[in-house]
Amino acid sequence: MARMKVAVLISGRGSNLQALIDACGDADFPAEIVLVISNVPGVQGLSRAEKAGIPTALGKHKDFEDREGFEDALTETLVEAAPELVCLAGFMRMLGDGFVRRWRDRLINIHPSLLPAFKGVHVHERIVEAGVRISGCTVHFVRPAVDDGPIIVQAAVPVHPDDDADALAARVLRQEHRIYPLAVRLIAEGRVRVVDEHVLIDGALMPEGVLMNPGEG
Ligand code: GRF
Repeated sequence: MARMKVAVLISGRGSNLQALIDACGDADFPAEIVLVISNVPGVQGLSRAEKAGIPTALGKHKDFEDREGFEDALTETLVEAAPELVCLAGFMRMLGDGFVRRWRDRLINIHPSLLPAFKGVHVHERIVEAGVRISGCTVHFVRPAVDDGPIIVQAAVPVHPDDDADALAARVLRQEHRIYPLAVRLIAEGRVRVVDEHVLIDGALMPEGVLMNPGEG
């Protein structure tokens, strides 16, 4: 079986990258990571990739005059590696319309909330502040608007009354590490379709479906 080639874009710690690396370590997993690109030098995610023997590239946005130049260079590096799927995993740069269109339905992101609630940054602080009872995380196809696009998989976790942002972030992160590999696997198995901006998953049965229920942590 040919494994689907995946590129991962990071800016930092890379724990979601690690979850994908670990998943790909299983001979039965239908995808492999062919390239990791960071826009920030020296980050932990790059060391994780190197340790796993995965080629890395640095796409420093500061080396380019404008976003277009940066994204053209990014695309050039990606095209050389010929990934069938590009995963944003804690990639902290906004991507422009041109880039997003070029990789349409082949570009996915993970966000630490139950989208479309709590888009943007400082998510866990805002969730604790709002007093919501359930939060979670989302893997979705990327569209030009921030944290927008057809939802592939979500996982929910409880928000406890004594949670601070760090406690909630840790609980959500454990689920991120489950659903990102799951989403990649579903795509690699050819089971994910976008129809009218909704994701349909062929043969999705619980608990492998699009929602993982609260109860963990
Ligand atoms: C994760 O919480 C992810 O959802 C968000 O950025 C964080 C990245 O963490 N987009 P890591 O670099 O994967 O550890």
